[in-house]
Amino acid sequence: MTTLLKFIHLAAIALWSGGLIVLPFLFWQRGTQTAGAELDRLHRITRMVYVELTSPAAFVAIASGTALIFLQATFVEWFSLKMVLVGIMAMLHVVAGLVLHELFLPDGRFSRVSLIVLSAAYIVVIVAIIWIVLAKPHIDSNLIAPHLFEPGGLGRWLHHSFGETRMPTP
Ligand code: HEM
Repeated sequence: MTTLLKFIHLAAIALWSGGLIVLPFLFWQRGTQTAGAELDRLHRITRMVYVELTSPAAFVAIASGTALIFLQATFVEWFSLKMVLVGIMAMLHVVAGLVLHELFLPDGRFSRVSLIVLSAAYIVVIVAIIWIVLAKPHIDSNLIAPHLFEPGGLGRWLHHSFGETRMPTP
């Protein structure tokens, strides 16, 4: 079961990451086209890559990863760091959707600088996640947050930071 889920997880990640890496280049090509059949074709392909390939793959990657949480020992610091990076990757995925929303309007453009910045952001975050999962680096949370994994530690931290906290009664 775990092997099958990991296979699905990795296949979905390959599609999600590949889609994200190719999208900025497709966006940039918008500037090379004027209105006509070629532009319509580029529009259709770009939408297809985002809507029918990258977004469903992201959904499957997150769903299979969430299922894997219950099958693997994930209560370790590197996994928390991975989740922060996956959150950033998901937000950058939304950025591509926002760009696509405006890109094919009559004056839509995606500059060379945007191409470099967005591509670099995708590559850095994807490589960082893959490195963390494969290297599983030892990070000692006691150095930064000593009570992170201590039962009741969150309540004490809230009390210490915000004073007396009470549950609101309806
Ligand atoms: C919400 C999103 C995600 C969740 C909940 C999740 C969760 C997991 C879990 C629980 C495992 C098994 C960990 C272990 O081997 O102990 C795993 C494996 C893996 N994940 Fe994710 N993951 C997510 C997204 C991603 C993303 C975006 C990437 C890469 C860009 C990624 C790359 C990997 C890789 C390469 C493995 C295999 C590690 C190995 O077998 O040693 N995951 N994931």
